[in-house]
Amino acid sequence: MTKAEELGETVRVRVPAKINLALQVGPLGADGYHPLVSLFQAVALHDEVLVRASDGIELEVRGSTEDLGPVEDNLAVRAARLLADRHQVPARIAIELRKRIPVAGGLAGGSADAAGALLAASVLWDLDAGPEELTALAAELGSDVPFALLGGTALGTGRGHELVPVLTRGSYHWVLAASPEGLSTAAVYRRFDELGRPGELSVPDQLINALLSGDACQVAPHLRNDLAPATLDLRPELQHTLDAGLQRGAVGAMISGSGPTCAFLCRNEDEAIQLSMQLAHLPGVARTLRVTGPSLGARVVNCP
Ligand code: C5P
Repeated sequence: MTKAEELGETVRVRVPAKINLALQVGPLGADGYHPLVSLFQAVALHDEVLVRASDGIELEVRGSTEDLGPVEDNLAVRAARLLADRHQVPARIAIELRKRIPVAGGLAGGSADAAGALLAASVLWDLDAGPEELTALAAELGSDVPFALLGGTALGTGRGHELVPVLTRGSYHWVLAASPEGLSTAAVYRRFDELGRPGELSVPDQLINALLSGDACQVAPHLRNDLAPATLDLRPELQHTLDAGLQRGAVGAMISGSGPTCAFLCRNEDEAIQLSMQLAHLPGVARTLRVTGPSLGARVVNCP
């Protein structure tokens, strides 16, 4: 038993949501996944993952009324199990998820919780697991999990899990418009296959250069999401939300990942505040969230 376990202490980790500033999606591969080029940005919207010693595996979720499915299937629980298996320690852990990231929103909230659980459990169990090992385990859990550990802004290739950090200047102001109902990522990829229009994969040089300017107006023309036609096919009403954001001053508007959250890039904080208030009243918008990016990746905010 580690000291933290013996003392019944809690390890608390904060982990960010992500948006994809560019998401290029190639044709379905033999492994059942699509090759991606993704420019991720972590944003200042965080879930917290708290863990402490327990007799078995327990999961408690606060801050969301969505059904997150059976405990054993929860990605955070699977993360803790995977880590315990690899280090041959008993998976005796109580996990509490304090959710602020909308569930099934295209913001990688489930992936964030898995990344948080990996980091928190590694501290609770006092394992000698460095960033490289945690990143490799994260990639086994899902395409977006490694980025939630890393944070910042990064270019992802492969399934989106092979990451290289990207330099940016300043802070970008985003408004997120959450939808009343989530979307399954797998369903969006299926519709993407049915539509049969895979994109070309290339390094988004112009976007990467624009991110060095710190100027939202230079970044906006290079935002791209190849999944958007599939998401909009499943949820045509989201086009109204995107149009409304542009009409009300956003310099860029896009579906976040597989959606249904819409992300709006604003020139500055004041414009983001205005837009956030205006969009909150639209039909089809459950709530708006104002966030800045980039933000740090998963980090321990208290250490026993
Ligand atoms: O990796 P993750 O578990 O988040 O993916 C959820 C689902 O999305 C996968 O089961 C797969 O159907 C689809 N997906 C895909 N290609 C990717 C990433 C995800 O087809 N690169």
